[in-house]
Amino acid sequence: MHSHEQQFFNELAERWDELRALNHVKITYLIQLAGVSEGDNVLDAGTGTGVLIPFLAKAVGESGSVTALDFAEAMVAKAAQKNAHLSGVGYIAADIMKYQPKHCYSKVICLNFFPHVKDKPAFLSQVRRLLVPNGSLVIMHDISRQAVNSIHKASEAVKEDRLPPSFIVAEMLQQSGFAIEEAFDNEEIYFVKGKVIGKQ
Ligand SMILES: C[S@@+](CC[C@H](N)C(=O)[O-])C[C@H]1O[C@@H](n2cnc3c(N)ncnc32)[C@H](O)[C@@H]1O
Repeated sequence: MHSHEQQFFNELAERWDELRALNHVKITYLIQLAGVSEGDNVLDAGTGTGVLIPFLAKAVGESGSVTALDFAEAMVAKAAQKNAHLSGVGYIAADIMKYQPKHCYSKVICLNFFPHVKDKPAFLSQVRRLLVPNGSLVIMHDISRQAVNSIHKASEAVKEDRLPPSFIVAEMLQQSGFAIEEAFDNEEIYFVKGKVIGKQ
């Protein structure tokens, strides 16, 4: 049984890349800020059509891995089709809240995903489970917070999916057992990074 939002994103999959402007310089900068590097095992949470995958695959290199996860199967299919030439990439159609992988990740990256998370404390606990000790969660957007919220406001399916200011999200992360490494937002981007603490 699909949720309303899952259905919404499944229906958007074919048109997503046309609707979404992709600024390579900005994404490269965000990946650098996130500190994704050689050997990282990265979970791309809410991958959509996998716009981040080529950037992540390049950054993690041969010794790392990328797992692209989305609960809209049509999005995952599109991501897999577009990136079939890349090795070291796995595709998972699942709700992140129910995802139980065999191995933990060194980084969980959320690009334009966090506003869609309904129960944010439960999500942050789940991300703690998904990360290795000292692993990092990155919540980022390649547009401003104002732009995210006005796009969502205009759409019935996601109109309640708001992105709070970065300092509020940083506080949420702190309350859920993350040490903040970076938290800011401006007219171009939004970026919060936290390292999981107290996990053995
Ligand atoms: C706004 S899109 C962003 C896609 C991509 N990261 C990008 O920036 O182009 C958000 C994605 O999150 C997915 N999503 C929302 N809630 C989810 C959940 N609970 N588990 C997995 N995926 C989810 C949606 O299906 C959608 O593809």
